[in-house]
Amino acid sequence: MSQKVRELYEQFPYPLRDPGQEKDRLLMPPIDTLSRVNHYCFGGTKEFDATFRALVAGGGTGDSMIWLAEQLRDVGGSVTYLEPSAASTKVARARAEARGLSNVTYVNQTISEFARSKPEPFDYINCAGVLHHLEDPEEGLRDLTSVLKADGAMGIMVYGEHGRLAVTEWRKMIEPLLEGKDLQQQLAMTRTLLSALPEDNMLLKMGGGPGFIKGLLENDPEIVDLLLHPVECAYDVHGVYDFASSAGLHVAAFTGFFGFGGTGKAHYKIDNLVRDPAILRELVAKPLRDQQAFCERFSGAMPLHAFYLTREDKSQTAEMLPDAELAPYFFVPPNKTFFDDLVALAGQPVLIEDGSGNAVDLTGGPDLARLLAVFDGKKTVAELVAILRDEILDTQPIDMNSIAINTLGAVWALFHKFDWMLSSKPGGWQKTDGERTLSVRKI
Ligand SMILES: C[S@@+](CC[C@H](N)C(=O)[O-])C[C@H]1O[C@@H](n2cnc3c(N)ncnc32)[C@H](O)[C@@H]1O
Repeated sequence: MSQKVRELYEQFPYPLRDPGQEKDRLLMPPIDTLSRVNHYCFGGTKEFDATFRALVAGGGTGDSMIWLAEQLRDVGGSVTYLEPSAASTKVARARAEARGLSNVTYVNQTISEFARSKPEPFDYINCAGVLHHLEDPEEGLRDLTSVLKADGAMGIMVYGEHGRLAVTEWRKMIEPLLEGKDLQQQLAMTRTLLSALPEDNMLLKMGGGPGFIKGLLENDPEIVDLLLHPVECAYDVHGVYDFASSAGLHVAAFTGFFGFGGTGKAHYKIDNLVRDPAILRELVAKPLRDQQAFCERFSGAMPLHAFYLTREDKSQTAEMLPDAELAPYFFVPPNKTFFDDLVALAGQPVLIEDGSGNAVDLTGGPDLARLLAVFDGKKTVAELVAILRDEILDTQPIDMNSIAINTLGAVWALFHKFDWMLSSKPGGWQKTDGERTLSVRKI
């Protein structure tokens, strides 16, 4: 770790957090939500118990550490928070103490120092916004892999090359002015420039307008991290796959990361972006990573990539209807009137939405509400197929089993698109999303 980077995070612990706010709200980085980790990385079969060990590498001021430790506290699982910056650790520790979390171990080291100490390996490693700041990110990823259990998984976030072009351009612009100035002087100059941006400046477009710049001007660590970092690189989708394979790992799935709306997994699916059937046909014939790479440049909205890595390739299974012995469940729970509304609006086009901008439109038949009501997290896919075949679709004259499987597959695809449904073993880890609920609205 270079001296400059070390000093940067001592001066500006990242992200800006006030331990006093812990009593008012719990931040839940979506990448570390264990229901998601279970579905995408462990095929829904992980036991989250006292043996479960999570590592947060480059934990900053503690967002991921807090969320993981909160989820694991009742089952006795533990979190190791690894962070070389003493100033960041101070904030993270104060936050954990404010919440009464006692399942965290604090380690004041870099990733490579920690890996050399050969700790007992981990089930899940979070490393968000860190590897792209290392002199040798591939070495960093190999170090993390060396402390990962054989069936373990990682949740990684790195900068996205294409969606970050505005920053790259800004840095090219400002580079000649940085020489000979210390970080405080660089920051002061950057603040002056940001306060009076021409209206066509790319940074304004990247952040969605003046609100983004106003937010930046109230957050010095964000300005420093975004625009003045001495060591950084960025990845496009192919770069992410190559990065993963440099450590012998596979991309299990892309996922969401808070702060930037354009990075949820739905944005990596071409059928969400391309409507033209002929072009779509051509695209779906390409390998998955080519499809996702197309999405990155077509949408232009991915300043970062958040993704899960595993040793075994799980990418094909995560999106398909789960195996017969797994139980799909509503990760985003339906609101109180959801099923009644579906029945009342049967046969009419409706929008199902989760309150955060994600929606699917469909026209449900009279039995859609009945079908959705049987996804209770206890019934397996095999049992759901049987119910569908024998009780709900029982008036069709042909091969009921395949109709039932296809129908279930179609319903799963719709409800898995935004992680509204995930899967686990029946009665397994099925904690629901604490932020969203599903509602139905007539179009
Ligand atoms: C941009 S912050 C991200 C913090 C946190 N992961 C998050 O997402 O909020 C990067 C963090 O990585 C830490 N870091 C930088 N180089 C590191 C290294 N070689 N090993 C471990 N942590 C490192 C920094 O001290 C800093 O706290």
